[in-house]
Amino acid sequence: MRKPIIAGNWKMFKLISDAVAAATALKPLVANANHCEVVIAPPFTALKAVADRLEGSNIHVSAQDLAPEIKHGAHTGEVCGDMIKDAGCSHVIIGHSERRAMYGDTDAVVNRKIRAALHFGLTPIVCIGETLDERDAGNAEKVVATQLAQSLAELTASEVIRIVLAYEPVWAIGTGRTATPEQAQQMHAFIRQWIAQQFDATAASDLRILYGGSVKPENISDLMRAADIDGALVGGASLEAESFS
Ligand code: PGA
Repeated sequence: MRKPIIAGNWKMFKLISDAVAAATALKPLVANANHCEVVIAPPFTALKAVADRLEGSNIHVSAQDLAPEIKHGAHTGEVCGDMIKDAGCSHVIIGHSERRAMYGDTDAVVNRKIRAALHFGLTPIVCIGETLDERDAGNAEKVVATQLAQSLAELTASEVIRIVLAYEPVWAIGTGRTATPEQAQQMHAFIRQWIAQQFDATAASDLRILYGGSVKPENISDLMRAADIDGALVGGASLEAESFS
C-alpha cells in the first residue's frame, strides 16, 4: 500500500516571517491528515525557521534543490545535503522543470543530485515531464523514458524505492492547464511499467509517483482517484494554507 504524499513547492516566494506564518497556519489544518504525508518546500532562507516551527508536527520540510557534491568545499552559492538536513529537512526536490530550463540542471546533474540526497538520507522528489511541443509531436513517453533512464542511471532497485517521482508536464505548470486524470494516469502507468522493466516489480509497485501541474482544490480529488497517482506536487495552490490543506 503506497501512502500518498501531498507536497507544496513554494518556489521563490515568502520571506522568513511569511513562511513561518504560513507554516503556523497550516499546522492545525492538516493535524489529522494521517492518510497522507504532508511536505512543504520553503525557500532555503526559511527552511530552518519553518522546520523549528513544525517540530513535532506531521508536516515534513523539504528543500527545493541541493548541491550535487557530497563534500564541503569551494562551491559558491551551493547548499550541501547535510546542511539541508541540519536545517531540519527530510526531503529535497530535484530536477524541477524550472531548474532544468533556467539553471542548467541536465539529467546527468539530476543523477548526481539524487545520489547526493540518498547519501545524506534525504528523500529525493525527482521531477520529470515533457514540454507541449514534445507532447504534440507524440514524443511524451519517449522524453520521459529518456529522463528516467539518465536521471536514475546506475541506481539500484533498493535506491529507487527511496525516491519519490513527480510527473510534471511542463505545459501544465503554472498555466492553469492541468493534465486530465486520464492523461496523467496514462503517463504514471507508463512510468511504473518502465520502472518494473528496468529495476524490478517490487520497486515499481512500491514507488510513489506524484502528479504536478496546476493542481488545486477543484481538481485534486479526480486526480487522486487514478490508480497510479500517489499524490501531488503543488505549486501556486500551496502558497496559501487553506487551499493547500
Ligand atoms: P503549479 O506548479 O502547481 O503552480 O502549476 C507545480 C510545480 O511547479 O511543482
